[in-house]
Amino acid sequence: MTERIDFCFAPDGVDPQSIPQRILYTGAKMPAIGLGTFGSDHITSQQIAEAVKGAASVGYRHFDCASVYGNEKEVGASFQEILKGGVKREDMFVTSKLWNDKHNEADVVPSFKQSLADLQLDYLDLYLVHWPFPNFHPKGCSVDSRSPDAKPYIHENFMKIWRQLESLVDAGLVRHIGTSNMTIPKLKLLLRDAKIKPAVNEMELHPHFQQPELFQYCLDNGIAPIGYCPIGSPARPERDRTPDDTVDIEDPVIVKIAERLGVHPAVVCVKWAVQRGQAPIPFSVTRRNYLANLKATVENPLTPEEMAAIAGIDKNNRLIKGHVFLWKDGQDWHALWDESGEITPA
Ligand SMILES: NC(=O)c1ccc[n+]([C@@H]2O[C@H](COP(=O)([O-])OP(=O)(O)OC[C@H]3O[C@@H](n4cnc5c(N)ncnc54)[C@H](OP(=O)(O)O)[C@@H]3O)[C@@H](O)[C@H]2O)c1
Repeated sequence: MTERIDFCFAPDGVDPQSIPQRILYTGAKMPAIGLGTFGSDHITSQQIAEAVKGAASVGYRHFDCASVYGNEKEVGASFQEILKGGVKREDMFVTSKLWNDKHNEADVVPSFKQSLADLQLDYLDLYLVHWPFPNFHPKGCSVDSRSPDAKPYIHENFMKIWRQLESLVDAGLVRHIGTSNMTIPKLKLLLRDAKIKPAVNEMELHPHFQQPELFQYCLDNGIAPIGYCPIGSPARPERDRTPDDTVDIEDPVIVKIAERLGVHPAVVCVKWAVQRGQAPIPFSVTRRNYLANLKATVENPLTPEEMAAIAGIDKNNRLIKGHVFLWKDGQDWHALWDESGEITPA
């Protein structure tokens, strides 16, 4: 028999009411920290499903899911237990994402409905286009892998997907829609053409990769930034590692602050993210760690001097480079990120 978890009153947890909230442009609230659910290919779906329940029991209400994580069924079973355990659906904030092999117009709504069914919910709070490229690649493939059908960003095609997402909002199946891994030039076109604006952009954000321009652009345009890999993804798969990558949790500035507070450097990364104004979604299957990350949002804030010191350690060190989305031989991954300020020509 499984042990019964009380989702509302874990004695050492954090009252969900006290967790900072981001106000989306609709006026809806989104908890300023969520639990990531991507197991980096080595943590099982069952472990993640257990962590979702454990996280809810200590006060998490925001969960970042995606069809490609391959665990929405197991996570959905946990949501059922959480709801039966007394948490109200309206107090939860659940995200899922459309994977790259479902960018055909006709595939969008069925893929969304599959996620909804797997997650055992009757609506989602947020649905994102996971990447702005329609290129299928199998889960876990190497960075050298290229799809023979690879395509660049084609705005007209992206808008066809977006219209499908808008239809999901109109049908009451999702409360907000948004993007992930977008750039300023792509967001400009989307903001120009969308009937329903993106409510969030999910993007890589950690002390060594602060993306200040894109971050500010999102805030200026009423788009809430959700930060992935907030701790610098120390357990990311081998394929996402390069020799030049730096390690946020070993940075002397982060380590010094962690020593002052008597916490793990990961907790400092989470505090910085929440105080800066993004909503980090740290992954963890270890109760001590996910609880520490949640407490980071309500206890012992960083001082203005510490916030300024962390602002100074940005190394523009992108970890998730996206090689598999390249559409031409000989291209460099920088082409994916429109670094010239224009969308990279096809
Ligand atoms: N939209 C996208 O394209 C995209 C891309 C990548 C990721 N994501 C999302 O972002 C989430 C987070 O990213 P991520 O999983 O790559 O990296 P991350 O959250 O930066 O790092 C997770 C790692 O940090 C460890 N950790 C967490 N809290 C800790 C603490 N307090 N002390 C010590 N270690 C700690 C975890 O180990 P333990 O489990 O042992 O605690 C885990 O190995 C993903 O799960 C996914 O939901 C989205």
